Amino acid sequence: FKARKPENEVVLSYEKDSAERISLKAKLSELKQQQLEIPLIIGGKEIYTGNIQKCVVPHNKNHVLATYHMAGEKEVKAAIEAALEAKKEWVKMPWHHRASIFLKAAELLAGPWRMTLNAATMLGQSKTAYQAEIDSACELIDFLRFNVYFMSEIYNEQIISTNESWNRIEYRPLEGFVFAVTPFNFTAIGGNLSIAPALMGNTVLWKPAGTSIYSNYFIMKLLQEAGLPDGVINFVPGAGNLIGNVVFNNECFGGIHFTGSTEVFNSMWKIIGENIDKYKSYPRIVGETGGKDFVFAHKDADVNRLVTALIRGAFEYQGQKCSAASRAYIPESLWPAVKYKLMGEAATIRVGDVEDFTNFMGAVIDKNSFDRIKGYIDYAHNSHEAEIIFGGNCDDSAGYFIEPTIIVAQNPYFKTMTEEIFGPVLTIYVYADDKLEETLRICNESTPYGLTGSIFSQNRRALVEMENMLDYAAGNLYINDKPTGAVVGQQPFGGGRASGTNDKAGSKLNLLRWVSPRVIKETF
Ligand code: ALA
Repeated sequence: FKARKPENEVVLSYEKDSAERISLKAKLSELKQQQLEIPLIIGGKEIYTGNIQKCVVPHNKNHVLATYHMAGEKEVKAAIEAALEAKKEWVKMPWHHRASIFLKAAELLAGPWRMTLNAATMLGQSKTAYQAEIDSACELIDFLRFNVYFMSEIYNEQIISTNESWNRIEYRPLEGFVFAVTPFNFTAIGGNLSIAPALMGNTVLWKPAGTSIYSNYFIMKLLQEAGLPDGVINFVPGAGNLIGNVVFNNECFGGIHFTGSTEVFNSMWKIIGENIDKYKSYPRIVGETGGKDFVFAHKDADVNRLVTALIRGAFEYQGQKCSAASRAYIPESLWPAVKYKLMGEAATIRVGDVEDFTNFMGAVIDKNSFDRIKGYIDYAHNSHEAEIIFGGNCDDSAGYFIEPTIIVAQNPYFKTMTEEIFGPVLTIYVYADDKLEETLRICNESTPYGLTGSIFSQNRRALVEMENMLDYAAGNLYINDKPTGAVVGQQPFGGGRASGTNDKAGSKLNLLRWVSPRVIKETF
């Protein structure tokens, strides 16, 4: 049998006076009044180590939402033991029963848990209601349902041939345990990086980013309520270096599912390489890392659509999406019209507390991010090669607020055109119309990354040329649309080059990374 392909979860609008806005507001108040103390969850048990850190609200930095406990070496070792112990039973559970647990989680999230996850993401990660809804509700629900669908396809392909011999393929989980290292910017990615391997029969040590522990803890509680057996996913907040050292030195390390910076991924890959003789099996290394995503306009691009893509692509969630539009190439002949419209649209953007539903942007995630982004803006401000044509103000007195900022660079290799900023900063290079080919080459080669990009044209021949020249510049390429907002089941997500191993989250390709197949030939 085959599972039916699911529909994508419908995005709620949260418009004024809607039932969902009222219930989200109530949940925000409720969560703000609680003072959660977040433990580690290892083998289903709550562990309080006493080594405590705070979860703060980025747009109201003096508000401590919760405290959380950090793992030490002892807890990491215990989590590995718990994962290996739980695996003995987990592998024996028929896959369609494993599926039921995650489908139940999807139902709980679509229903009673939706407002909790959304409110937690708004408070802990400073997302607007809409950005929280498309992430911690819809995308996570889609990951759960679609991964079950893809899994059913994989397990239905277990027979290779029945000619002469009886040949079959078993999609077993990897040998050992899987290490999931997850980022702050998408609550759904936090869930998916541990859920996808677990679905395929693996057990997992999950290290969430320090700045998204609040919402990620609620995912862990949701999975427990859905019936996930103890030890299948172990929730282990803590220092990356400390956890990594224990994990990468363990002979049963079976694979890593990572989203985060290129620098961290590279350093982990090197440590894994140094330890390669230790492992029982070659570990699977799956990572989605940095990006410097582009918007490239041809001279006959539709200006209105282009500007909408620039505004939404660059500034939604304060530009903190690995897919965010952070550099644009605009032909000289279009620039006056684009500039006029872009400045007008940017001027309507409201920045502030995400609980005010009229705000389009909240704060950036923390002081480190604020300082890094401000550093890039200051650099542009002091340079003769660039002009800040919009925004540029940063204010961390109440929260980590940065205005939507638009820079025009005279040089396509200018620092803010080529380095990942991970904030609400868009840099534009205006090219001479007769330099299309040369500029496409620069777009393709001026950064090490290859995650997402958009091309804008109404001319089919131009689109084909652009697509061909930008060969590996983007694992997800958009035509006449913004480079963000991939939808599970429609645009499997991931890129190559320094942006990752391109194992396409939300697809069968990704799930196949979490299996170690065994082929069996039997003769009679
Ligand atoms: N999957 C996220 C997006 O497409 C990163 O924007």
